Amino acid sequence: MKIINTIEELQAIRKKLNGSIGFVPTMGALHDGHISLIKNARANNDIVVVSIFVNPTQFLAHEDFDKYPKRDAADKKICELCKVDYLFMPEISSMYQGDDEVLVKAPKISGFILEGEKRPGHFDGVLQVVLKLFNLVQPTNAYFGKKDAQQLSLISQMVKNLFLPINIVECEIIREADGLALSSRNVYLTQEQRKEALAISKSLNMTIISVTKGERDSTTIKNKMQEIMSNLDIEYIAIVNKNFEEIQTIEVKNTIILIACKLGNTRLIDNMWI
Ligand code: PAF
Repeated sequence: MKIINTIEELQAIRKKLNGSIGFVPTMGALHDGHISLIKNARANNDIVVVSIFVNPTQFLAHEDFDKYPKRDAADKKICELCKVDYLFMPEISSMYQGDDEVLVKAPKISGFILEGEKRPGHFDGVLQVVLKLFNLVQPTNAYFGKKDAQQLSLISQMVKNLFLPINIVECEIIREADGLALSSRNVYLTQEQRKEALAISKSLNMTIISVTKGERDSTTIKNKMQEIMSNLDIEYIAIVNKNFEEIQTIEVKNTIILIACKLGNTRLIDNMWI
């Protein structure tokens, strides 16, 4: 595996690459969720590129940019074991050339509801860095997890709206054996909070059971979820279609049930695609 730290080196290497390129952009602190994206990329491409870059522009002023978990040595090892060909780890100063750059804006509606409403500007930053990374890596296929469902939807929309010749591959959420969705932020949870957090996946599992039994009313489902998560500080529960429009009636195969909540200072999101 080759580690690349500069833009110039990446561009020089990229010019010489032939064959399909699978790209997994990450912010590091790699866990089994990332590993499943990398494995998917490895199985379906000639070349695999992973990036690790904690992108400052997607964090709000009060958020955890400064303390976002960093585990470079372990991450490198994981990438090596997963047979990644190129690991790109740029400096902030090379990815951003100043405070007055040309910007990408998230769509006014779908980019500013749910996560975008709670974290205004977050998706502008995500799209900005993902577009930069796409332009540098020029992948054939790019891999994103369904856990960040709104991010996945907005990146797919960017690819469509800006005519980027990249195939976006949606990958399943990876969970701990007890149901907790994997997230780099899980390391912030105390033992007690981790136990409490299980109510999130429990409430999502309940939705599957309810829908299987025939329930289709979003309000009824949301009320049941709220009951299961009564001990948590819920930011939102939303039931949307794949275009991220709120729906009153669940449509099987076109529904995403989303949750954001806080345990102490740690904000967790999770969702279920129905
Ligand atoms: O999902 C993430 O880890 C980040 O938002 C991404 C896509 C790597 C952009 O910084």
